[in-house]
Amino acid sequence: MKHFINLKDIPVKDLRKIIVDAKKRKNLRKKLSTLEVDKGAPLKGKLLIQMFEKSSLRTRLSFYLAIRQLGGETLTLRSNELHLGQGGESIADTAKILSTYGDGFMLRTDSDKKVKNFKEHLSIPVINGLSPSSHPTQVLSDVFTVEEIKKKSISKLNISWIGDSNNVLDSLIAASVKFSFKLSIGCPKKFEPGKQVRDWVNKNNKKIFIYNDAKKAAKGADVIFSDKVISLNDKVNKKKKIEQFKKFNINQKLMNSAKKDCIFLHCLPRGSEVSEEVFLGKKSHVWQQALNRVHVQKSILLYCFGKLR
Ligand code: CP
Ligand code: NVA
Repeated sequence: MKHFINLKDIPVKDLRKIIVDAKKRKNLRKKLSTLEVDKGAPLKGKLLIQMFEKSSLRTRLSFYLAIRQLGGETLTLRSNELHLGQGGESIADTAKILSTYGDGFMLRTDSDKKVKNFKEHLSIPVINGLSPSSHPTQVLSDVFTVEEIKKKSISKLNISWIGDSNNVLDSLIAASVKFSFKLSIGCPKKFEPGKQVRDWVNKNNKKIFIYNDAKKAAKGADVIFSDKVISLNDKVNKKKKIEQFKKFNINQKLMNSAKKDCIFLHCLPRGSEVSEEVFLGKKSHVWQQALNRVHVQKSILLYCFGKLR
């Protein structure tokens, strides 16, 4: 049984296998409509239970389509409607029931400890659909999108992140170590990646490049990534934080510091960190990026269910 919790814990050969499978499956679906099932219905009869403790549009819908296209079904739980959410049932008992009723569990939560607890008590795979420290399904899909557009291995590209140090960046840092690509980060001093993640990079004998200057971080980039300055449930003075990121706005001028054919990616939802001109401009591939979540998550599901060929 394979879990999908943090890219740090997954061997790169498995991550690569997922990307290769997603590419094959995406090509094979060209003539199929939204809910038509892939040939062989590899997850026929399987139930993916999803639970969201935080809002979601893309992750929810892409997992719905992913499992349906593989021939399985999904059920979405709202944590506040469960005994667990009301404090009336333990994680251990909830996990036992999930394991007897379902075949896989996708969780979006504000607590990394909760993901760990579920993992300990479940006898079915758990997929992290976003936690404070990680958004692994998003970032693996983003690696896929970068390679699809650039038509080369991400290890040959300069990737820049301009924005907050959050769960998506932590997963991108993990990906930079796993796939060996150059990652330059542009953010205010106060919002640099935490010690734990930087120590992990050092322990793996890799490097990330941090600049408190957006232009320096964007210089020579093949891809510029960003994300909302204010993440879901971010308990900060929002106005103040947005002000602190003012010099890290992704506008046309900043895009001009990167390579001529640099692309812009953003996991969405967006805030004020990117100009309308860039977000909706020719260099932006955000809609393709969002749709690719379906294709990559299908291969993640196959990996977790032990069906990845
Ligand atoms: N990018 C992403 O995870 O979007 P949702 O929050 O809508 O799921
Ligand atoms: N960093 C963002 C990602 C949303 C998909 C958040 O955690 O809210």
